[in-house]
Amino acid sequence: MITPVLMAGGSGTRLWPVSRKSFPKQFAALTGDETLFQASARRLSGAGFAAPVVMTNSDFRFIVAEQLEQAGIAPGRIVIEPAGRNTAPAILAAALMVAADDLDGLVLVAPSDHVIPDAAAFAATVAQGAQAAAQGRIVTFGITPDRPETGYGYLELAGAGEGPQPLARFVEKPDADRAGQMLAAGNYLWNAGIFLFSARAMIEAFRAHAPAYLEPVQQALDQAHLDLGFLRLAKAPWAGVEDQSIDYAVMEKADNLTVVRFSGRWSDLGGWDAVWREALDHAPSDHGVVTDGNSTAIDCQDVLLRSDSDDLKVVGIGLRDVMVVATSDAVLVADRGRAQDVRLAVSALKAKR
Ligand code: GDD
Ligand code: MG
Repeated sequence: MITPVLMAGGSGTRLWPVSRKSFPKQFAALTGDETLFQASARRLSGAGFAAPVVMTNSDFRFIVAEQLEQAGIAPGRIVIEPAGRNTAPAILAAALMVAADDLDGLVLVAPSDHVIPDAAAFAATVAQGAQAAAQGRIVTFGITPDRPETGYGYLELAGAGEGPQPLARFVEKPDADRAGQMLAAGNYLWNAGIFLFSARAMIEAFRAHAPAYLEPVQQALDQAHLDLGFLRLAKAPWAGVEDQSIDYAVMEKADNLTVVRFSGRWSDLGGWDAVWREALDHAPSDHGVVTDGNSTAIDCQDVLLRSDSDDLKVVGIGLRDVMVVATSDAVLVADRGRAQDVRLAVSALKAKR
């Protein structure tokens, strides 16, 4: 049995104005009927998977519970982090929880904001990594890159071949030059952000590379209390935990990484350009135009026009490489090449308040 750990605590500011602090992207239906979170939970709910552990925060707890219920997925444990400390402490907390039941139990950590349409292919890829994980390796999943993306981690392959193989190096979020070099080199894959390991191996990795997390995270668990069925980690010890992603805290340093290539379709939907690209993959259009029921494009090229409000129609004329995203109370108009900068909108609005 593998225990899925769903990471659902991020705020997805690059998808403003649909993704909000109180309702981030993983809980929105960005591409299909189900929300990204529901689809992620479903993907990890088949045979061989235990009920999920969901790592989230106080603001999202009821959304998580409601969306699991709506999707008919039995909630395992919903854990509330008292403050956002990024993925490193959340993953360690989950590993310690699983270890309390079974030190050698396998854990699959997955973001809740990804699009992976082929669930069966994904499950088969996870199964390929299970043996290595049971032997104490931390298994990563690699995606063949098609652009010099700077928002991802890169996995340097040690050899050729299709099966699981040891990883030569993990490079988190390189600058544009470095990303270009790695794409050209051809022996790098993108890190899918999904990790498979035994609870023991992850705890050992923290002990070796990031020992300062162990004590406060263990204390936050020991002093946790149940609140309406949610497990609330203790505030005081958690406050002292460093804010860091698992990629920098552990993955870049670990020497027992294995990579399994995932060749199905995968998207992080990290920004509106990714949503645009994903929509075109589903339904190709001659001029790269993506619209919805509330929007119309006339003589446009490579644009995304979207309105989540039936009371607000969007019409674009003669636009090129532009994204317009409207909700009932906000409109984003941005150059398509600046998709990663949408988080600036959120900080700019905060500063005005
Ligand atoms: N519970 C919890 N608590 N979840 C969090 C927190 C937190 O404090 N911070 C982020 N998350 C969740 C996000 O909601 C998302 O589902 C997941 O953890 C990953 O965080 P991101 O902030 O989206 O990471 P990233 O996209 O910049 O980078 C990671 O994913 C890439 C692939 O999508 C890295 O692992 C990269 O190496 C990887 O390429
Ligand atoms: Mg992400």
